[in-house]
Amino acid sequence: MKRKPMIAGNWKMHMTTKEARDLVSGILQQTKDVDPGNVDILVAPPYTALMAVSELLNGTPILLAGQNMHWEEKGAFTGEISPVMLKEVGCSHVIIGHSERRQYFGETNETVNKKLHAAFSHGLTPILCVGESLEQREANQTFTIIEEELKEGLNGLTTKQVRSMILAYEPIWAIGTGKTASPEQAEEVHAFIRKWLREQVEKEAAEEIRILYGGSVKPENIEGLMTMENIDGGLVGGASLKADSFGQIVKRGL
Ligand code: PGA
Repeated sequence: MKRKPMIAGNWKMHMTTKEARDLVSGILQQTKDVDPGNVDILVAPPYTALMAVSELLNGTPILLAGQNMHWEEKGAFTGEISPVMLKEVGCSHVIIGHSERRQYFGETNETVNKKLHAAFSHGLTPILCVGESLEQREANQTFTIIEEELKEGLNGLTTKQVRSMILAYEPIWAIGTGKTASPEQAEEVHAFIRKWLREQVEKEAAEEIRILYGGSVKPENIEGLMTMENIDGGLVGGASLKADSFGQIVKRGL
């Protein structure tokens, strides 16, 4: 089955509002000849730049996402942001469970699960990140970790919800290190994820769900990754911070 590819840029804690405006204008320019029927392009700026980016994206096919959110609608949660707030500024998607959230900010499979439920209740499409660390890979725990993240993360979601969401396999050892997983290494895990979904959720969900690869995606390696049957796109960090390289990833990934 051919799934529509997605190239998503995770800007992390980069870009002031002014820089964000420049970057998104550049991305619009770089991708103006790309047929939106062939690929979904998405950007996830920091919260303070969401509004400015949203205004520039209005009327364009580029999608907007938050990098994280709280599961409650509102309340005494200093420093947090809610699904309602993301919706209000024009987000259609939200990244959940990025390994940096798990590693540095105490995100667990349980909070990931609450956030996934909250995203769906508010009409946001979640992009759930899963992936193993180098130690876990070396200890042959890759599949156990991924399975645990999927099982606990997706707990209680309907098959229809799982079908509509997006997954990102991001091996922690490949993030920001310049060390990309080889297309074969990534494909092995993507195929495992799809098999797990087929057996534990539903055949249709396994077929329809898009699984992005993330971890040092660059213009030079996107083509190889995209030739793999179970890789449906990229979640790009560092290389999404320049309009030129992000635009090239979009075009070469087609
Ligand atoms: P990177 O980050 O492309 O800089 O490795 C990817 C990610 O963390 O989403």
